Amino acid sequence: MRRESDAVSFVGLGYVGLCTATVMASKGIKTIGVDVDEKRIEELGKGHPPFHEPQLEQMLKAAVRKKRMEFTTDASRVAQANTIFLTVGTPSRDDGSMDLAYVKKATQNVGSAIAESPSYHLVVIKSTVIPGTTIDVVRPVLEAASEKLIGPEVGLASNPEFLAEGSAIKGTLQPDKIVIGAFDTKSGATLTKLYRRIYSKINIPTIVTDPTTAETIKYASNAFLATRVSTINTIANICQRVPNADVETVAKAIGLDPRIGRLYLKAGPGYGGSCFHKDLQALISFSRSLNYDPLLLAAVEKVNQRQASEIVNLSKKLLGSLDNRRIAVLGLAFKKDTDDIREAPSLRVIDELLKNGASVSAYDPMALENARRVLPEKVELLPDAISCLKGADCCIVMTEWDEFRRLRPNDYKSSMRAPNIVDARRIIKRGDLNGFNYMAIGLGTSSP
Ligand SMILES: NC(=O)c1ccc[n+]([C@@H]2O[C@H](COP(=O)([O-])OP(=O)(O)OC[C@H]3O[C@@H](n4cnc5c(N)ncnc54)[C@H](O)[C@@H]3O)[C@@H](O)[C@H]2O)c1
Repeated sequence: MRRESDAVSFVGLGYVGLCTATVMASKGIKTIGVDVDEKRIEELGKGHPPFHEPQLEQMLKAAVRKKRMEFTTDASRVAQANTIFLTVGTPSRDDGSMDLAYVKKATQNVGSAIAESPSYHLVVIKSTVIPGTTIDVVRPVLEAASEKLIGPEVGLASNPEFLAEGSAIKGTLQPDKIVIGAFDTKSGATLTKLYRRIYSKINIPTIVTDPTTAETIKYASNAFLATRVSTINTIANICQRVPNADVETVAKAIGLDPRIGRLYLKAGPGYGGSCFHKDLQALISFSRSLNYDPLLLAAVEKVNQRQASEIVNLSKKLLGSLDNRRIAVLGLAFKKDTDDIREAPSLRVIDELLKNGASVSAYDPMALENARRVLPEKVELLPDAISCLKGADCCIVMTEWDEFRRLRPNDYKSSMRAPNIVDARRIIKRGDLNGFNYMAIGLGTSSP
């Protein structure tokens, strides 16, 4: 089998694998993408990404056209690459602990693929894995399947990913840091060299450490970010109960303190997406296995889960009972610029609305198809915002899509049965809303 000089391979072509591979290909690096999903591979070969991510489609098409990316279900092809990234999913089990089945399977496949190869390969764990996994789980599986020694014959490193959906390409083109947890000096040097090649024109701070510390950095990062969200949401919930208090002004002011900083201080319906909840649950479970109960992290999760009720309660304040009321939900994706609805707060809010006897219509510019797969049939999914608002007794703005910022008062007035708006993202300018009953997250307009 012919070996591509300096090629890299990605095993698992989801948000992380595909976006990272595409950016590397855009830098002139030959990439070989492997996934078990045949349909995904077929579509990727035509330049069609399986999810929405700004800039991705156009970069992917260019890379495929220039023959810098190849896609296959045949895992043995990874032997053609010097560096092999594992980017498979690491979902939660029912008890919150991490399910490493995909990581183990992918490691086995990679090990078998490189068993006969005379060359040095570096295997890089980019999936988010519990501290200790690269050394205690990946290393023995890789050694057994490849019949090679990790170190002299095969390199191994942890290289956690920090991209955020909705800005994954931008974040990968210019990451704020690179973390390399190297098994040995050669592994560290090989990966550092690859990244220098990719980011030849920009200086990206690089932390080189051991694999277990690298894995821990990823969890610490998500734990801090999630804590920030639950903290500002807690302040928002307090503001909501104090006439005239406004969390937006509070956030603006405290953000000026350099010890706090202004980013990630936006009150809202709670965090969603595939990572925060899963990673916090995994960290809590891991921590408990070490006989340490991480009380703070459990509280962060609890605040987040309860945030949906805060939103639904705002609609109850406007309508009284929700029984037989029609609620229009604008936005289903867990944030703007993605079609991802995994752990989206909209799903928790809709569930609670239905339990309160409301009928629900919903619209999202990108996530309708994904939402249809998980929402009950009785939720009416509409193709645009105006038809979603039609006949509604109340509208809840759940995702901060620019399209919703552009809606004018008349768009609501001409469609809704009653002028009630709950703004869970604080995107509506209040001055625009004369004649509306308006409730917003973190805005204390009336007593609880
Ligand atoms: N999505 C994010 O924003 C993000 C950010 C940072 C880190 N992460 C972490 O990165 C990892 C991947 O996340 P994702 O969101 O890209 O996952 P994903 O679910 O979108 O994609 C995973 C892909 O792996 C494929 N796969 C599973 N087993 C395979 C195997 N044996 N061989 C080849 N392909 C296989 C699946 O078919 C799927 O296409 C996870 O550990 C996640 O926690 C995700």
